[in-house]
Amino acid sequence: MTNLFSVPCKPLLQWYQTNLRDLPWRHTTDPYHIWVSEMMLQQTQVKTVLPRYEQWFQLFPNIQHVAAVPLDDVLKAWEGLGYYRRARFIHSAAQQIMDQHDGIFPEQFDDILSLSGIGQSTAGAIASFCFGMNTPVLDGNVKRVLKRWHNQYEATDKQLWVLAQEAIDASNAPAIWNQAMMELGATLCQARSARCDTCPVSRYCKSAFSNIEQQPSNKKKTPVKDVFWQINLHTHLEKGLWLQQRPEKGIWAGLWTPPIIELPNKPDCSPCHIHLLTHRRLHLYSKPLSSAPPSDGKWVKQISQLALPTGIHRLLEKNFPKNKYQIIKA
Ligand code: ADE
Repeated sequence: MTNLFSVPCKPLLQWYQTNLRDLPWRHTTDPYHIWVSEMMLQQTQVKTVLPRYEQWFQLFPNIQHVAAVPLDDVLKAWEGLGYYRRARFIHSAAQQIMDQHDGIFPEQFDDILSLSGIGQSTAGAIASFCFGMNTPVLDGNVKRVLKRWHNQYEATDKQLWVLAQEAIDASNAPAIWNQAMMELGATLCQARSARCDTCPVSRYCKSAFSNIEQQPSNKKKTPVKDVFWQINLHTHLEKGLWLQQRPEKGIWAGLWTPPIIELPNKPDCSPCHIHLLTHRRLHLYSKPLSSAPPSDGKWVKQISQLALPTGIHRLLEKNFPKNKYQIIKA
């Protein structure tokens, strides 16, 4: 079955149904579960999300729980997943759901879209998976698949939304269609390797078997900037480690770290740890200090109760002999 736009619906749907990865969020249509999985999957790999997905629902069994706890608890549950803005979005959207929808996840597309942190593509995923709507997903994987199919590497997002809508409309199976498109992009039709020989839709694809190295990409690469941070470690055997909460905006917003001083130049010594973010390479230099800590912040004995960035965890692991670190960590 192909439609006017050569959308190979049937082969793709069949391929998906026999080749799908067994992922826990594919066993549910509950919007709270789907929403959390989609937020986690936005910028984090499936293998990292898997254990965290299960843990999340042990901590927060329903939307009411998320809405009621302090933001710090949600950030802590997000620790290690990166892009913590998503955790803040979940917390505020949960409160929106409590205030505006009596605690029940909304079913109307526009209501879903108006929740904090939910854009057109995530709303499309939730509306199709949970409520069977013909609403396409257009994440990075799906964009690449559509560009290759149509051999339209210069296509704008607006044009891709049209192609994605036409395809899902033709599929008659919106939930499976969206999953199948994402699965194809995540497994066979990857950015750096296109397995056209085993692809169920290569017959219909205008770029099949072409050299993917030569496919133009319209992604503008933002250069990675090196920054040099001194991490002041004020420790006290009884009181623990001095931590401050990062400002609400910027790198590691809302997370807890020792006081950080940005150095104007690269120091002569090697960094204790280098942590890579999307647009920044953070060179972290630890500085143990016995002086009194700055006024803002607090002594923390049990750092496991607060959300610390992974880069700071790594730095602390390197700085503290295991025993001592255990004392602070325990
Ligand atoms: N990435 C985004 N959404 C996904 C999903 N539902 N399954 C697998 N990977 C995804």
